[in-house]
Amino acid sequence: MQPDISVKHLSKVYGDGFQALKDINLDIRRGEIFALLGPNGAGKTTLISIICGIVNASSGQVTAAGYDIVKDYRKARETIGLVPQELNTDSFETVWNAVSFSRGLFGKAPKPAHIEKVLKDLSLWDKRNNRIMSLSGGMKRRLMIAKALSHEPQILFLDEPTAGVDVELRRDMWEMVRKLREHGVTIILTTHYIEEAEEMADRIGVINRGEIILVDDKASLMRKLGKKQLTLYLQEPLADIPANLADEPLSLEDEGRQLVYTFDIQKEHTGIAELLRKLASHGIDFKDLHSSESSLEEIFVNLVRARS
Ligand SMILES: Nc1ncnc2c1ncn2[C@@H]1O[C@H](COP(=O)(O)OP(=O)(O)O)[C@@H](O)[C@H]1O
Ligand SMILES: [Mg+2]
Repeated sequence: MQPDISVKHLSKVYGDGFQALKDINLDIRRGEIFALLGPNGAGKTTLISIICGIVNASSGQVTAAGYDIVKDYRKARETIGLVPQELNTDSFETVWNAVSFSRGLFGKAPKPAHIEKVLKDLSLWDKRNNRIMSLSGGMKRRLMIAKALSHEPQILFLDEPTAGVDVELRRDMWEMVRKLREHGVTIILTTHYIEEAEEMADRIGVINRGEIILVDDKASLMRKLGKKQLTLYLQEPLADIPANLADEPLSLEDEGRQLVYTFDIQKEHTGIAELLRKLASHGIDFKDLHSSESSLEEIFVNLVRARS
């Protein structure tokens, strides 16, 4: 099946000479939730803005639902709904009118039944006659999604949907995004919260300094890049790691009370037996031990650190 979004050799140099995107290649599949994960300033908003036709690319091609975003701008744009990072919600307009108006901007004929469905899906139906400025923060966010869905787009972009939002509202948003996907909408969200990508995404693309570092299924990403850690809780705290263990992937934590050994999940030979022998020969005793797999957070931090 043709991808819903196809990005080929996309680069962006801003007017001041700053290169915000470098040779981005990316396909988004129909019906998936794709998380574009990267630190602030990585280029997430720039990439989304180009795909949505708000910012011009310096080079490269993008298609949305098969339509070239430059040559076939209108058709491409019609297939896309965008919830921007900056919310503009200081309006006297009612919820119903704002969402209906958004649909009109795309030149689509009024379709009250669709607006009603969107408002009901987003639990805004009871508020349809309220002025936007009177809504709570959470309702305003839902309203932005309703506006983005007003013209029945196949693809929905959410730029940092939960930045600065409290935990409860974040969970609500995630629930809503999942519901939209069940209705067949392809969803691309940007985030700098690893937890969000881990929770929501089918696939994750990691972007850093304008480059896509990797794209993978969430599960396989965790498998491939995950490391295991063995933590030894020492009988006596250590001031330093003994010299002839200095080459081992060891670190001291909790003021020398914990010795942490990190190894690749994929490697057959973990080196643990040997480590334990060496520790015994140094008279280093431990009272307990604990093993854990790294979270996506650690994977991400390591990736981004390795590139900077
Ligand atoms: N209009 C602009 N002119 C010059 N530089 C910009 C402009 N917009 C964004 N940038 C720069 O491009 C980089 C990527 O920005 P952005 O796409 O907003 O990142 P993100 O959304 O991942 O935080 C940042 O270094 C930012 O300062
Ligand atoms: Mg951004």
